[in-house]
Amino acid sequence: MINWKNMDTLAAYQELQNVEPVNLVEAMSGENGAERVRNYSVTMGEGLAFNYGARPVDDKILAALAKLADEAQLTEKYAALYNGEMINTGEKRLVLHQLTRGQLGEPVIADGVDKREFYVNEQKKIAEFANKVHSGEITNAAGEKFTTVVQIGIGGSDLGPRAIYLALENWAKVNDTLKMKAEFISNVDPDDAAGVLSKIDVAHSLFVLVSKSGTTLETLTNESFVKNALENAGLNPANHMIAVTSETSPLAKNEGYMTAFFMDDYIGGRYSSSSGVGGAVLSLAFGPEVFAQFLDGAAEADILAKNPDIKQNAAMLDALIGVYERNVLGYPSTAVLPYSQALSRFPAHLQQLDMESNGKSVNRFGEPVDYVTGPVIFGEPGTNGQHSFYQLLHQGSDIIPLQFMGFRNSQMGTDVVIEGSTSQQKLCANVAAQIVAFACGKEDENRNKYFAGGRPSSIIIGDKLTPKAMGAILAHFENKVMYQGFVWNLNSFDQEGVQLGKVLAKKVLAHDTDGALKVYSELLNI
Ligand code: F6P
Repeated sequence: MINWKNMDTLAAYQELQNVEPVNLVEAMSGENGAERVRNYSVTMGEGLAFNYGARPVDDKILAALAKLADEAQLTEKYAALYNGEMINTGEKRLVLHQLTRGQLGEPVIADGVDKREFYVNEQKKIAEFANKVHSGEITNAAGEKFTTVVQIGIGGSDLGPRAIYLALENWAKVNDTLKMKAEFISNVDPDDAAGVLSKIDVAHSLFVLVSKSGTTLETLTNESFVKNALENAGLNPANHMIAVTSETSPLAKNEGYMTAFFMDDYIGGRYSSSSGVGGAVLSLAFGPEVFAQFLDGAAEADILAKNPDIKQNAAMLDALIGVYERNVLGYPSTAVLPYSQALSRFPAHLQQLDMESNGKSVNRFGEPVDYVTGPVIFGEPGTNGQHSFYQLLHQGSDIIPLQFMGFRNSQMGTDVVIEGSTSQQKLCANVAAQIVAFACGKEDENRNKYFAGGRPSSIIIGDKLTPKAMGAILAHFENKVMYQGFVWNLNSFDQEGVQLGKVLAKKVLAHDTDGALKVYSELLNI
C-alpha cells in the first residue's frame, strides 16, 4: 500500500535536518578527500560511474537519506509507475516512457493494448521506414535519395532529440554511421525556419513533424512555413513530410504526410526522446541499430534505478542528495556542466526535463506544499562555462551545486600534443581541477582572491560518449527527476504552468486585449 505524503510529514525528513552537516572543505582536503573520491562512487552501467565524493554528505547523512528513501517508498512508487498505475494525477494518465526501452515489471495493458508491444511495434515501423530511406527504396518524386532530415517540433519534441543528435553526430561520423544530416526547427521566430531552410537542399530533405498533441502553435506554424517553401520549390509537401504524433491528435489521419508514427498520452513530451519522438529523427540520422543501442543504455539505467539500496542506485542517490541540498542546505539552483562539446545542448534538455517536471508549488493532489521544490537548472559545456559564469560559481553569494560529466576519451580520436598534453587531457585536467577548487577553496589574505570552497559537485565519469552511454545518462536524469518528484510528493508529469501564457498570446493575436496587454501589443506592433 503506497502512502503519498508531503515530505515535511515524514519522520526521516525531520531527522535529516538534525544530522550535523559536512564541512566539505575539511572532508575534501588531504587523504580524507582522496578516500571519499575513491569510495563515493556508484556504477551507472555502460562504463559510467556517478562519483559523489564532492557532494556534502557523509555516512550519517547517507543513512538518513536511506531512511527517507524507505519512508517515502521511492522504489515502491517507481514500481507503481512502471506497472501502469495512474501516476500523473493532474492529467489522469499513466506514465510509461520507460516501457519504450524495456519491460521493467508486469505487462501494462491500457485502452485494451499491451503498451510495450505498441511502442516496440512503432519502433519497428520506424526502423523499416528509415532503412528504406537509406537504401533508396523511399525517395523524393525525382527518384533521388533524401540526404537531410529536419525535425519540426518544440519543447520535448525538440530539446531531447536535438541534444542526443548533437551528442552522437561526431561519434556517428567516425563510426561511419551518419546516414543523414539532421537539422531542427522549433522557434516560432520566422528566422529559425528561414535560417534552416536557407542552408538545406529542400528537394533532398525529409521533414519530421513532431507534436504529441498536434495542436502546438509553434509547430503548426512552422509546418506551414516549410510547406510553403516546398511548394515554392515546385515540390509536393506530402512527398517530403512524415509525422510523429498520438493516435488521437488532429495530425493522426492527415493526408498531408507520407506516413505517421505514433506515441501516446502516457509519454510526457520531455520524457519522449526514447519514443518515436526521438526514434524517427535519430534512426533516420544514424540508422535504427544506433537508436537501438541508445535504448539499451537507457534500459540498463532503468533497471539499476530499481535497486532499493541508495548506494547502488545512482539516480535515487543523486535525487536524494539534491533534495538535501535544496531543502536542508537551502541551495537555490543546480548547474549542469558536461566537459564534452557533444553535450552542448544537453543542459537545455535538462532545463525542460527538471524545471517543467518539478517546478511546482502544489502536491500531487493540488494542495500547496510548505517547502521549496525543483531548483533552477542551467549549464554550459566546460571549458566554455569556465570563461563565462564560473566567477559566480566560485565566489558568488549563492552556493550552487554542480553536476559535472566527463569522459576519458574523445569521440573523434583526433588530437594533438601541445606542451606535453593532449587537448583531451587538458579538458579532463580542467574538470578535475574545478571539482577540487570548488570543494576546497583557497586561503588568501586578499579577500578578492580568497575562495571559501564548500561548493559541492558530483561527476558522471565515462570512457567515451557512445549511444549506449548517452541512453544511460538520459535515463539517469529522467529517473533522478522522477525520484525527486516522489520525495516532494509532486506530480512531475503535467505542466499546467505553461498554459496561461499560451492563452494570453492567443488573445493578443485575436486583438482581444485591454490594460497592460493591449499596450505591450501596441509597443510590439502586433
Ligand atoms: O510547453 C508545453 C509542452 O506541452 C511541452 O510539455 C511539450 O514538450 C511541448 O509543449 C510540445 O508539445 P507537443 O509535442 O504536443 O507539440
